[in-house]
Amino acid sequence: MHYHLCPFVADTRMTESIAELYGAHHRTLRTRHSHALIASGYDWLVIYSGNAHPQFLDDSLCPFRANPHFKTWVPLPEHQGGAIVVGRDAEPRLVYLQPEDYWHSPPADPAGYWTEFFDLRTARDDSQVISALTGLTGKVAVIADDTAPAEIRSLGTLNPAKLTDLLHFDRSTKTEYEVECMRRANAIAVRGHRAAEAAFRDGASEFEIHMAYCSACGQSPNELPYDNIIALNGHGAVLHYHEYEHDRQPPRAFLIDAGASYNGYAADITRTYSAANDDFAALIESVDRAQQEICQNAQPGVDYVDLHRDANTRLAQVLVDHKVLECNAETAIETGLMATFFPHGLGHYIGAQVHDVGGHQATPAGDQRPPPPEHPFLRLTRTLQPGTVCTIEPGLYFIGMLLDELRNTDAGKTVAWKRIDEFVPFGGVRVEDDIYVTASGNENLTRAAFK
Ligand code: GLY
Ligand code: MN
Ligand code: MN
Repeated sequence: MHYHLCPFVADTRMTESIAELYGAHHRTLRTRHSHALIASGYDWLVIYSGNAHPQFLDDSLCPFRANPHFKTWVPLPEHQGGAIVVGRDAEPRLVYLQPEDYWHSPPADPAGYWTEFFDLRTARDDSQVISALTGLTGKVAVIADDTAPAEIRSLGTLNPAKLTDLLHFDRSTKTEYEVECMRRANAIAVRGHRAAEAAFRDGASEFEIHMAYCSACGQSPNELPYDNIIALNGHGAVLHYHEYEHDRQPPRAFLIDAGASYNGYAADITRTYSAANDDFAALIESVDRAQQEICQNAQPGVDYVDLHRDANTRLAQVLVDHKVLECNAETAIETGLMATFFPHGLGHYIGAQVHDVGGHQATPAGDQRPPPPEHPFLRLTRTLQPGTVCTIEPGLYFIGMLLDELRNTDAGKTVAWKRIDEFVPFGGVRVEDDIYVTASGNENLTRAAFK
């Protein structure tokens, strides 16, 4: 079996536009960091990029993803051992680690549209990085994980909540540069989704589909923002299914949740397919229609908790329409049985992390708005604002463990169990798009990329 490779062709116009957008992004970051430093009483912030964790009892390294704070400043999602220093009113400094090393290929010289915005210092080893970070006068904060050398972690207060809460709150409003990065991440991921669908229809195994996806995106699994979910048939009922079976199965159903990265920003996309024009295909179509209506309603000023509740009701109606439930949608909501079929949240913020920070943060000061008790897995409880980028990912699943719990309850009496048996071999349906909320409505970054 052969799948086409279609490498991503960078065109100059696209590069120019991202360069123009980066300047304004950088200025916004400076303003936000300056305000956050003043409000939290710090003079300087050191942001360490991080290092790959070694595997236990081995000198091999785990996959690496840079500190998201670092990635928002510089498009270096793979840079290890470097740091950025931000002051209240100083040009940000980038300490760029470029070791002299014959075991690995050292990072290339920093180049591109973003370099002119930094006081650039190249370091050849950790001790030079540490030297380039010491001597800051005043109160210092450090944002770093436990891969940072002790000398860097102790340069000041480590990960102070007052400062990180302010920065995390701000990150929920994306700059134009960030949105453009996510548009491009979506365009890359869509190439993978097309190749994956073709491979599924050709009868490929999960492993082969996964490879076809990565090839078409031109991204290795470590470059993707999260582990692909490539689920054939009943595997679609496993919410975080991360196996890649090598055996080919007669293709029946296919759920793919797979993204891509651009400059460290994520796309997060799910599609579900049925091999035949059957009842499962009709169920997918209904979920897809409901999903598009929910996307339409993701408008500025809308409370995401209300959007989740509305999605739950729409999905209950889909189950009634497809004769899975013998009660009406209101009863399905009242009895709580939708937790069996839609056991996750409607979506989450997305950005430099696939599950971006601040989804429960009610105020810049860090007050939390937890999800309602009946929807404990909802990752986003905030009101949508212009600049929000979030996912909308309703789903309906036939999960053995949850169905068994429901079977002998009163609510279980309203379920058409024969119908369930018909759907179990298909696993489940999820449809997921990335939505950019604007002042006047929204832009569906994913559907635009599929067009
Ligand atoms: N792919 C992870 C998620 O959809 O949240
Ligand atoms: Mn998602
Ligand atoms: Mn997803």
